[in-house]
Amino acid sequence: MAQVKSDALVFYGATGDLAYKKIFPALHLMVKRGNLNSPIIGVARGDYDLEKLRARAKESVQKYGQYDEESFAKFYSLLGFVGGDYTDTQTFIRIREALGNAKNPTHYLAIPPVLFPKIVEQLDLSGCAKGARVIVEKPFGTDFESASALNKVLLSKFSESAIYRIDHYLGKRPVNNIVFFRFVNSLLEPVWNKTHIESMEITMAEDFGIQSRGAFYDVTGAIRDVIQNHLFQILCNLTMEPPKALDSESIRDEKVKVLKAIAPLKAQDVVKGQYKGYLGEKAVQPNSKTETFAAMRLHIDSPRWEGVPFYIRAGKYLPVTCTEILVKFKHLPSAYSSIASQPNHIRFRISPDVTVAFGMLIMAQGEDMSSVLSEIQGNPTPFPNEKDAYERVLTDAMAGDPTHFARQDYVEEAWKIVDDYLKSDYPVFEYEPGNWGPDQVNELIVPTGGWNNPVVNKK
Ligand code: BG6
Repeated sequence: MAQVKSDALVFYGATGDLAYKKIFPALHLMVKRGNLNSPIIGVARGDYDLEKLRARAKESVQKYGQYDEESFAKFYSLLGFVGGDYTDTQTFIRIREALGNAKNPTHYLAIPPVLFPKIVEQLDLSGCAKGARVIVEKPFGTDFESASALNKVLLSKFSESAIYRIDHYLGKRPVNNIVFFRFVNSLLEPVWNKTHIESMEITMAEDFGIQSRGAFYDVTGAIRDVIQNHLFQILCNLTMEPPKALDSESIRDEKVKVLKAIAPLKAQDVVKGQYKGYLGEKAVQPNSKTETFAAMRLHIDSPRWEGVPFYIRAGKYLPVTCTEILVKFKHLPSAYSSIASQPNHIRFRISPDVTVAFGMLIMAQGEDMSSVLSEIQGNPTPFPNEKDAYERVLTDAMAGDPTHFARQDYVEEAWKIVDDYLKSDYPVFEYEPGNWGPDQVNELIVPTGGWNNPVVNKK
């Protein structure tokens, strides 16, 4: 269902933090690689003008991107600006004028979702929605109800194939490699099921706190911030059935089937934590119960995965910054069982370095019949010119490829899993910054053999 290439990009929120840290550097690289040659119009409120926007873009690319004079000059020449209030029809009339002959513009809403209804209405009234597509930023709602209300707003003026809901984890090549790796290696499929797999663990650890994002984080928490979206996407990549074709919808259909087979979270399957000192962070409520850590156990009710536990864990102020997946295999009974010291595994490290490793047992040194775990690693060096997640998803959206975006039904199904749990008032346990969450996690939610705590070599 690929669409035509877009011929202009309008991005709302051009003076915001996201634009500064991620969007300008990504757009600059798209221009540099020849993937973006059309007008780029920044839209913002306040007393901005084109010169100020260009200066901010330059500063941003110098600080967070790969600045060079030649490609920046090209980016600079493509950049335009429209200032005005997002609720004012005149702003959108000026945007339509600035779009000139563009027939398939992309409107990128890098702004809070509360503004979506007004903007979508204005896009329609001004003619800006004609032939257009929209890219919307996460968070996509705060629960099932708000997400489906947002979907209704967008779908009232755009078709689903013209809506691109960003989850930047889908722009990470190592995340997409999970599906690729599973289905191109024929030795995996026969063992990728409940008969051979003991459990899977997904850990997203960050060794820093909420930084200056208290106002956002305190009403969000770890489950809404990264589990319901980024980590569920990883879970789907690990567990989906082979798609019948490689088009966007065949792949997204399989992901939705995984989510539909997961029951809503229950209290006994989750442990929440909050780091000590969180309550003193700026813009956090004095008695906040927001979780900065969560660990959970899920099951997928499908013939392939019946009975296999999936563990997901994410948190701020953990010992390392690392996203890693460990797939543990079962021991098969044999005369060697008592010698097999540890289970086989496959380890996918998504960041900070990229690794796919097979954990195998080999005979240990010495004369004894004992085994030692050894890893066969693939892909250890990252490709130096690798696109970052934002560049990749924006390039895909401009090209009309929705594969790496969350579809309406996906987003809603993902909320259904966490909704009831989030609406109830379950305890949040304190943990020391630098620990793997609160102690309770090691009593209540422990994979067989214990959690895989990623070790990161500090450079
Ligand atoms: C964002 C979350 O979506 O992802 C942040 O809002 C989190 O809290 C970030 O730090 C992590 O992204 P990455 O790409 O650095 O792993």
